[in-house]
Amino acid sequence: MAEERRSHLVVFTGSGISAESGIQTFRASDGLWADHPIEAVATPEAWRRDPRRVLEFYNTRRAQVRRARPNAAHKALAELEKRGFRVSIITQNIDDLHERAGSRNVLHLHGEILKARSTVDARMQYRLPRGGIELGDICDKGSQLRPDVVWFGESVPHFAEACEIVGEADLLLVVGTSLAVMPAASLLDHAPMEAPCVLVDPEAERLSPPGVARICQTAGKGVPQLVRHWQREGRLW
Ligand code: APR
Repeated sequence: MAEERRSHLVVFTGSGISAESGIQTFRASDGLWADHPIEAVATPEAWRRDPRRVLEFYNTRRAQVRRARPNAAHKALAELEKRGFRVSIITQNIDDLHERAGSRNVLHLHGEILKARSTVDARMQYRLPRGGIELGDICDKGSQLRPDVVWFGESVPHFAEACEIVGEADLLLVVGTSLAVMPAASLLDHAPMEAPCVLVDPEAERLSPPGVARICQTAGKGVPQLVRHWQREGRLW
């Protein structure tokens, strides 16, 4: 495929793409927020009120992420990129399963659980190859570390960049998200008018905004099927 002729696939993923890797989604009746109220673990107020509880919540989730393995959907997207397709991934997920599958262009809208950051300076970030964050763990400026994730009520630092990427899509593939959280869900509005948009989600029938094609399947089935089709055709559409 000639570099300048390659069309651009932008993939926007949510927790549903990692569900078959054993990572819980958020809003199902047995989802993460059912047992852990957002106000108690995922807001700046929760952090001020009870930082130990917040750290414990993310330490447990970090251990789950480390145990999880990329599934067929993550792998298919990475394979497409390896075969020479131009693929950009924008994920709401804080896990690293896209990267571990081999995808190279991944933007984390809501941060990364395998990183810590300073509470006083968001640019001071540290990888967490093992272990968790404890009270008393400090940055180089002496301030407490926190997970490098975006909490409810905080701004989304990479949102403008994500809008630019979506604005250059030839096809937008949305996978495993209820599109319930702003501003992430509004990314769909930034796709060019002529770019088709497809949602792969078992609940796609119910969730799909107008003009979005639906594939009511799990990510592990629906994404590899689409990818195989694109590979056979040698193009997206
Ligand atoms: N394959 C594909 N999609 C699936 C699968 C699967 N195997 N299993 C469940 N889903 C879908 C559900 O149907 C649902 O539409 O995944 C979606 C999960 O939706 P939510 O629980 O709302 O999670 P998400 O959209 O990722 O949440 C967005 O909200 O709480 C915040 O910061 C958090 O990034 C998260 C954001």
